[in-house]
Amino acid sequence: MASAIQSSVDSRFGAGSGSAAGSGSGTRPDRPLPAGYAATLAPFAIALAETGEASTFVVRDGRLECRPGAEGAATCVELSQASFDGLRGDVESAAGLIYGNRARALRGDLMDFLQWEPALRWLYTGRPVYDPDTVDLRGRDGAPLDPARAFRPDDDREEMAHFLRTVGYVFVREVFSKEEVEQLQAEADTLRGLAREGDQESWWGKRRDGTSVLCRVLRAGSQPKMRSLHADPRIHHLAGLCEVPMELKIAADEKDGVTLLWKQPGVDEGLGDLPWHRDCGLGGHASMCPTAVISVFLGPNTPEAGELRFLPGSWQSSLPFQTADDARAPRGIAPPARAGDVTIHYGDGLHVAPPPTGTTGPFRSCVLLGFTRAGGGHHEGGRHYNDVLLGDESGQVADMKKVAARH
Ligand SMILES: [Fe+2]
Repeated sequence: MASAIQSSVDSRFGAGSGSAAGSGSGTRPDRPLPAGYAATLAPFAIALAETGEASTFVVRDGRLECRPGAEGAATCVELSQASFDGLRGDVESAAGLIYGNRARALRGDLMDFLQWEPALRWLYTGRPVYDPDTVDLRGRDGAPLDPARAFRPDDDREEMAHFLRTVGYVFVREVFSKEEVEQLQAEADTLRGLAREGDQESWWGKRRDGTSVLCRVLRAGSQPKMRSLHADPRIHHLAGLCEVPMELKIAADEKDGVTLLWKQPGVDEGLGDLPWHRDCGLGGHASMCPTAVISVFLGPNTPEAGELRFLPGSWQSSLPFQTADDARAPRGIAPPARAGDVTIHYGDGLHVAPPPTGTTGPFRSCVLLGFTRAGGGHHEGGRHYNDVLLGDESGQVADMKKVAARH
């Protein structure tokens, strides 16, 4: 008898096809898996907790297949039926299930689940896997786009909108004045002084010597200038470049209404530095995307300061988990932002925040405002998908590889 997982593949590709790239009659992804990515995928099984039924996903001759049973799979992950359904529907993610203790490795390495996630999304939703060889970014006139382009606030709106919808981000110079930046920096100092480890409103990391480092505060809107950004027309003008109406779902003075981050060198543990990720990486893609994040820079975006880099043209595709220093990882583009400059990026677009290469500063600091598609939200009515990162009494947020190794 076919397992529930097998049936879910058949229902997508036509009963009896057994192969995601086979001769089934259902809708199928319009692009194959990139060969370089497919070559990284060892046989991987999912088992359903309620029934014990399992299926194994394999790549054979460049084709993705789903076979009954878990024999031969290097890694077998156990999920509840509800979690599997959420994964298939793209409202749950591998990282969210692992952080939330809802994925258990019956054998093997949970990091394989992350590696397979782009293939599973491709299988179940048709979303392509990012392939650097096929990225072709064109302007409205058909000419190649420069992904490092800097805009001015009064540049042509249609031009900016096209750039955002094609490349996945827009970099705008001198949106905020020097005086405004100084106000925001002063408030940032106040917020730093108010944050406490374990207050569940801040993210902390650790240096090698064991001392704690404040990486992020989630209620920056407690300060008036920070709070005013929530209604700032310049911010809303940029969010209006998205192809659908966007809204700030969380009030200005609530947790995650306005967020502030600081980059610092030598953060050995925690989420002070971020791997290549998407902002819906903890779940909710199908229920809330597109999302868009505005970053107001309070410090420089340089390698020494701990830069933010984007992967041009990635926002409608997937990429497996990769650290910034992974030899296979792409380089991306770091807008040369200074204090007062702004970026807007689609949350789906891949971006990375490696540690500063400098030791003396100034380091990058950004105020973040997260927009969600109007009407979109948590598929179960939850507050924020990132809440799965909170809860530790110390305020520490463990990195992905450490969490995966726990289960
Ligand atoms: Fe992000």
